[in-house]
Amino acid sequence: MRRGLDIPQRFINTYWYLRDKIFYQVILMKVYETTDLTIYNCKYEDIIKTLDFDYIITDPPYNIGYKYNAYKDNLSDRKYTELLKPLKNYKIGIIHHLKHIIKYFCIPNKISPSDNFAWCYNSMMGRQHRDLVFFNCKPNKKNIRMEYINKNDKRIKKRIAEGKARQMTTFFTDIPQVKNVSKEKVKNFTNQIPIKLYERMIKLISKEGDTILDPFAGTGGLAIACKNLNRKCILIEPYHIDIIKQRLNINFKSTKIENNI
Ligand SMILES: C[S@@+](CC[C@H](N)C(=O)[O-])C[C@H]1O[C@@H](n2cnc3c(N)ncnc32)[C@H](O)[C@@H]1O
Repeated sequence: MRRGLDIPQRFINTYWYLRDKIFYQVILMKVYETTDLTIYNCKYEDIIKTLDFDYIITDPPYNIGYKYNAYKDNLSDRKYTELLKPLKNYKIGIIHHLKHIIKYFCIPNKISPSDNFAWCYNSMMGRQHRDLVFFNCKPNKKNIRMEYINKNDKRIKKRIAEGKARQMTTFFTDIPQVKNVSKEKVKNFTNQIPIKLYERMIKLISKEGDTILDPFAGTGGLAIACKNLNRKCILIEPYHIDIIKQRLNINFKSTKIENNI
């Protein structure tokens, strides 16, 4: 039997990798790049494999019918599971509701969280919470210095005088939700994550100089938190790229992408 050209598989893989990298990153989807911030205007699953980064911190669509400007937050269970699946092997912190993460991410991919915390806040509907769920990396609570609650307590006063701070607790209440009247509120966007929450997650898992990716960037708040803490940042957002432009006060050409998932 005649044998075809015997090209080793690794060359074929490299060929496809480079082809995709050039096609997607250089030509089409990379819309902004400096040494500290890169922005892609596309669906994350199209390019994530070609990117170099240390951690992911993200707040994916919740699939509970939130009303975004351009994105429809109501996929079938199967499509929503598929949307999250490419994230399963990365060092990642996800902001979500734990019961949904278990249903759509842990069970289908047979993975379990390395740690989780509850971010509790007051809202119009009373007290609520969301979970910060980490996979493939170990958050270090010692990196977070929280304020003591009872600062008038004698023992606490002594600890403060000694330069000590309260260590992070598994649920915390010191970061308010972004409300319409909040200084950082971006107009016409639902479900904006506070910069302080991003900062807390960044400090929990990464160190200065690391690169952090947000594959569901929304208004691009992760970039602000990364700048504040000397981390590099990559943002990916298909539908709200003009909001990122405005918020970060930067300029680039962008393409309108339709929500056709
Ligand atoms: C919950 S929002 C993120 C909000 C963000 N944390 C903030 O504070 O502004 C989820 C975002 O994911 C985007 N999105 C939906 N499908 C996507 C996909 N396949 N790839 C990348 N981003 C996607 C939506 O357009 C939306 O802006």
